[in-house]
Formats: sequence, C-alpha cells, structure tokens
Amino acid sequence: MLKKFAAFAGVKGPVLTIVMDGYGLSNSEVGNAIAAARKPTLDRLFADYPHIQLRAHGTAVGMPSDDDMGNSEVGHNAIGSGQVYSQGAALVANAIASGAIWQGEAWKQIIAGAKAGSGCIHFIGLFSDGNVHSHIDHLKAMIVRAKQEGIKAVRVHVLLDGRDVPETSALDYIEPFEAFLSELRSGDFDVQIASGGGRMKITMDRYDANWRMVEEGWKTHVLGEGTQYASAAEAVKALRAEFPGVIDQDLPAFVIARDGKPVGPIVDGDAVVFYNFRGDRAIEITRAFEETDFDKFDRKRMPKVTYAGMLQYDGDLQLPKRFLVDPPAIQDTMGEWFSKSGITQFACSETQKFGHVTYFWNGNRSGKFAGETYLEVPSDRVPFEQRPWMKSAEIADALIDALRSGKYQALRCNFANGDMVGHTGNFRAATMAVEAVDLALSRILPVVDAMGGVALVTADHGNADEMYETDKKTKEPARNKDGSFKAKTAHTLNPVPFILYDNVTGGRLGLRQLPNAGLSNIAATIANLLGLEKHAKWDESLLTVK
Ligand code: 3PG
Ligand code: CO
Repeated sequence: MLKKFAAFAGVKGPVLTIVMDGYGLSNSEVGNAIAAARKPTLDRLFADYPHIQLRAHGTAVGMPSDDDMGNSEVGHNAIGSGQVYSQGAALVANAIASGAIWQGEAWKQIIAGAKAGSGCIHFIGLFSDGNVHSHIDHLKAMIVRAKQEGIKAVRVHVLLDGRDVPETSALDYIEPFEAFLSELRSGDFDVQIASGGGRMKITMDRYDANWRMVEEGWKTHVLGEGTQYASAAEAVKALRAEFPGVIDQDLPAFVIARDGKPVGPIVDGDAVVFYNFRGDRAIEITRAFEETDFDKFDRKRMPKVTYAGMLQYDGDLQLPKRFLVDPPAIQDTMGEWFSKSGITQFACSETQKFGHVTYFWNGNRSGKFAGETYLEVPSDRVPFEQRPWMKSAEIADALIDALRSGKYQALRCNFANGDMVGHTGNFRAATMAVEAVDLALSRILPVVDAMGGVALVTADHGNADEMYETDKKTKEPARNKDGSFKAKTAHTLNPVPFILYDNVTGGRLGLRQLPNAGLSNIAATIANLLGLEKHAKWDESLLTVK
C-alpha cells in the first residue's frame, strides 16, 4: 500500500488524467496546427488554471540522446511508471556497441538455426533511422555480423517509414543501403532486399486494429506474392509514379524478383529476425510466425523457421519466445501500486491508442491489475485525415459515463487525434483534430466538477505542433518545388503541457515547475491528488498544496 500523503487528504471525487496524444508546445506559429486551431476550452485552461511544461523527448524518456524525439511508447511508459528507464533504442544500441548481443543465446540460435537449415537469415523491420520502432544501423550491424559468422545468404524485407522520418525519404535510405550491400556482397555472401511496402499498408498493424495489414505483409514477405520489381529503388519509383501524392508510409507492397521468381520468400529452415524493438506494431506479425493455432488469417504456408524479435514485445504473453536484447524491466508502475492501494482505475481510448493507456501505461504488460477496468472504442479503419475527429466524441461519452458512475477513483484516457492526424501531414485536418479534442474536453470537464474531482491535462509528445519540415540549412520551413510547405509527419522535440484543472479545492492546489520536470513526474502528482504518498521509486510530484 502507498502511504497516506500528509499534506493533502486527496480530492473527494475522481482524478482524471487526459493524454492529448501528439500535443506539443511550440513557440512558433508557422506550421503549428495547434496554434491555428480554434480551441476555446484549452485556451481557458491555459489562461485560468495552474500549468507547467514537461519534457517529453530524449533522455527525459529514456531515449539515447536529446536529439531523439519522444514517442507514445516511451511517453506512456514514463507517465505510467513514474520512472525513466533506458528504452529499447538505447538498450539495443548499447548491446551492439558492447557486442553483448552476439554473445546472447538468441543470436547464437539464429546463426545456428540458419546454418543447420537453409543457410538464410531474413531481417524484417521498419527501414529508417527514426529510432521509434527500429534503427537502420542495428540492421546493418546484424548483416555485417552474419557475414562474419559465415552465413551465406541474407534477405531484407523493408517497411518504408515516412512517419517517424520525412514523408518521402524512402530512397534516402534505400540507395545508400544498396551501396552498403554491394560492398558486402561476395562469392559466398548473397545479400538482397527481398520485399517491402509502406508501414501503414503492411505488417505493422497494432492492437488488432486491422489484421488484413498483417496478412498482406505475410503474403509479401513470406509467400513472395505480389507485384514484382527488379529492385526496391525501382519499386519505390514505379509506385510513386503510379500513385502520385501517396507518401512512403502508405505505398503498396512490392516483391523483388528475378526471372519472375521472388528472390526471398521465407521457407523451412530459414531464420527470421524481426528487428523492431518497439512492441505495439511487432506483436501481430510475431504471432503469425510463432502460433500454431492461429486464426487471424489463412497463412497458406507456415514455414518452420528460427524466429527472434529484437526485444521481447510482451513479457506476460512471452511474445516472442526468442529475443536478441532484454527489454527494459519496468517495475512498480502506478497501475500496480494504485491497485495495491485499493484505488479503482479506469482506462479508455480508441483502438489506435488503446494499448498506450493499458499495455504501455502498465510497463508493457498486457494483463490488468486488480481493480482496473478497460474500455476500448473501436477505431475507424480510414485514413485519419478523412476523419480528424476520430473517436473523440465516443471516448468523451465513455468517460462521462465512467465519471458519473462514481465507481472509479483514478481515470485515464488518450485522445489519439493530434498524433494520428499529425502523422498524415495534413495541416487542415490536424487543426480539426485539435478542435475535436477541445470539444471533448468541454464536455468532460464539467462532469469532473460535478463529481467533485480534478483533471490533469497533458500529452505524451508533440506532433501537431509542427506540421512543416524545417530546412536544415536555413532553419526556415522547408518548401516543395512548387513552393508549398513540405509536410512533416513525425513527432517533435517540444515539451508538452501539464495543466491542473481544479474547481473543487478552493485554489489550495498548484503545480511547480521543477527544472527538468518531465513525464515521469506525473505519477507522483496523481498519487498526491489521490491523497497518497508517491512510491519511493517514482520521480518527484509537481503538486503544491497551500
Ligand atoms: C507510430 O507507430 O504510429 C509512430 O511510429 C509513432 O507514433 P506513436 O509513438 O505516437 O504511437
Ligand atoms: Co505518433
């Protein structure tokens, strides 16, 4: 049990934490969809209620450096655990730098499995240096090592990014990578890109939102079925010409073939490494490779392979069984300790972010703690620039019901809009996304008052706050050849807001801006609002009490 907090007995009603995904604070209004949005409720929150800024990127959330943007995994891990752990990106980079990865059993089994079988290792993963799900340097290090260890054939299946990196940058990765492969290629080392496609079209679905994507990936990588091209560069160029305006993340699947035959279908005796370190979008394809009883789609052929993930994506479900690097061991989360302290908890989001407020929030655990209730609102399966309001209204409905029920003391939710629409690069849709969240807040907050509760309004990282790329040289917004601004789809490095909405304590409560305050300070703040001391491991509370 967490101890009672001496300075404050806790609010009478519920404590609601609202995560506005992808809502960062930028000083510039240029390309800032948040500044351009009409958002009377948020404006009022910033004008009338205590608020500070929190760091949400780089080392504040366990990324290797402060040049790394934040993302939902590391953000929700930090919020939910009240701690900063070295995250997948850093753990993998360190394991490669020290060589520990090559000494691990999993890597040895990949090498041994390939050697005892067909001799071929396949690497499948997100093909960029975004460092959110993967990093191309990790892929390159594994290919070099495989050659050193006497592997004869490597096939690479490239998921085009354009979501954590510039939207049409695929060739900036493919072309140097092809040169790198040419250098390595030799009489006894055959290495080629075998298939690929946009990451939002194939393989990288999450939270069971759309298994058809994974099926499409399986057909492409494993069965080698699909439109054939001579090389990945040729595929990207041809697909761009065929589908003008479609950005990398949405490009269709392609298969590399010689004389009509795919160069790298996955067959019995192969080894397969899924080299993404982040779990949400890696779990479904991993299940397709590992599960014997599998009913999500017809695999047609289930090759017997030695399969490893870069990390273990879900410790409870042990997915995958074999993994190259140990994931961060996130312990003593807020969900667990509130549960142990008898606090009833409610978590809600729509499918696209549902695991963020459950699985990531609870330290990458898929199970529930006692006293937790989860509610998932099914997401639309459409490009979100076409429905920028997403499921904000339904999430608000669910929260209003949950608040009114009086059953829950700590509630949390995530509004996906700023992020999911931000990732499309569509400025106008992003302003509407922010407006939809503002409307939802205007409905929820009066219910918080009515129930005698308080709300914390925050975000996990920025996105909609910068919708144009910056020109590296001039530092001005980058422009396309036709003079229009170059859309930015990735997250930002900006801090996020932390607002205390309190109409019930007569102004006793406030927030203090600690010098390096970040997302990991939220858990202790929520505990104090509930009248509890923080867990010893959690970073400091930001609450002030008069
Ligand atoms: C994604 O997976 O959609 C992006 O790579 C990161 O977005 P998220 O961290 O906000 O989920
Ligand atoms: Co995002």
